[in-house]
Amino acid sequence: MPQIVLNINSEDYILEVEGNETLLTVLRERLDLTGAKPGCLTGDCGACKVIIDGKAENSCVKIAKNLVGKKIETIEGLSTPERLHPIQEAFIETGAVQCGYCTPGMIMSAKALLDVDPNPNDEEILAAIDGNICRCTGYVKIVDAIKLAAHRMSGGDQ
Ligand code: FES
Repeated sequence: MPQIVLNINSEDYILEVEGNETLLTVLRERLDLTGAKPGCLTGDCGACKVIIDGKAENSCVKIAKNLVGKKIETIEGLSTPERLHPIQEAFIETGAVQCGYCTPGMIMSAKALLDVDPNPNDEEILAAIDGNICRCTGYVKIVDAIKLAAHRMSGGDQ
């Protein structure tokens, strides 16, 4: 098996991967980073989203060996043992987490948006999570959560 180096959450991992192994499989089965969830496995539901070079991407359709030299961020990289990321806190506080299956992917899409647009409007938020399916919340609380996180991350007081 070819050996590759992947940069995930600012750490380099030396890995032996199958030629067609997906990033989702590498994350979950080789690195025990199980935040990205297997959903449709066809790149349509967003449960497996991670950020690659600043863009939210479905890790189930990304071939791991093609990601050498890219900066990969997963939900595990967002929080510290002491503190959740403000987006994670906002999701909990607004009731945007129900069954939770979509939540890591949804949060990674939200982070990719807020990293480049700290003050998005509703339309921009909906466009950013367009590729993330949630069967529970009806999306309203998710939009509220992303707005609350944006407000706090840009220095707002609530
Ligand atoms: Fe259940 Fe979104 S919280 S799918």
